[in-house]
Amino acid sequence: MKYEFLKQEINDWLNGYFANKGTYEKIVFEAMSYSLNNTGKRIRPILMLLTYGMYKENYKDIMPFACALEMIHTYSLIHDDLPCMDNDDLRRGKPTNHKVYGEAVATLAGDALLNEAFNVMLKECLCGDISKIKATYIISKSASAYGMIGGQIVDILSEGKAISEDELRFMHKKKTGELIKAALLAGAVLAEASDYDIKLIEQFGENLGLAFQIKDDILDVIGNSDKLGKKTNSDLINKKVTFVSLYGLEKCKLMLDSINDECLEILKRLRKDTNELEKITVFLFNRDF
Ligand code: IPE
Ligand code: IPE
Ligand code: MG
Ligand code: MG
Ligand code: MG
Repeated sequence: MKYEFLKQEINDWLNGYFANKGTYEKIVFEAMSYSLNNTGKRIRPILMLLTYGMYKENYKDIMPFACALEMIHTYSLIHDDLPCMDNDDLRRGKPTNHKVYGEAVATLAGDALLNEAFNVMLKECLCGDISKIKATYIISKSASAYGMIGGQIVDILSEGKAISEDELRFMHKKKTGELIKAALLAGAVLAEASDYDIKLIEQFGENLGLAFQIKDDILDVIGNSDKLGKKTNSDLINKKVTFVSLYGLEKCKLMLDSINDECLEILKRLRKDTNELEKITVFLFNRDF
């Protein structure tokens, strides 16, 4: 199973999901689909499918969970871009949701994507399969105030302030790391992986999640807006504390190298075919979008 193949599968599942839905409320489905059916990297669902794929072949069985996580991620982006948050105009190569639909509709579209994710996952849980229920709980907790929202709060509160390295790590691990870790853990739990494997996958997720946001901070400074599909220098404009603002680019790159090694080291300890996860790890550390 390859990155591009899985990305296409995910896009096929998501495309048209909201087509022909709604009557008087139709606009909310349009706004949801505007941000969702777009050029995202689909990293979180791909990580879930690849983790599951180490144990089981029938990856299509967990597509609803993978795509539900992408809905939650997309909601977090719509809200992250709002004027009251990062006030960004460009996302995934297009005007941000509120630029097209206005702030009220964008807020509701974000809320509705979060709820839709739970509609999708809970429908899967109705059969009573405990691993599906566990995966839903993992994803729910990762998106909550204990997870992504907890990090976003610290991000917003620390604008224009000096924060400690400890608080910065907390923020990055929560706002970005949690959904990434949940993708991996949900994939493992859905595949009924052993407790030993789940522990290792959790450690891998902690590292990969932190690294993903450090890389995002770097790309905000040195990336290309056309490639990224979002404007650069957003962090500087918003006076955010980032790994780059705290340590400088060179030190950040060294940190990434060392986390990369640690990720690959953890994967080696999994007695499974981790080839695809290794490849995507290297891709994520070296990405320029
Ligand atoms: C962007 O996430 C926001 C962060 C959590 C850093 P991605 O870089 O995965 O964005 P898309 O989904 O590819 O647009
Ligand atoms: C966003 O971090 C994390 C989210 C939970 C959405 P950023 O604010 O740095 O993400 P971008 O750079 O806007 O994609
Ligand atoms: Mg932000
Ligand atoms: Mg932002
Ligand atoms: Mg950023």
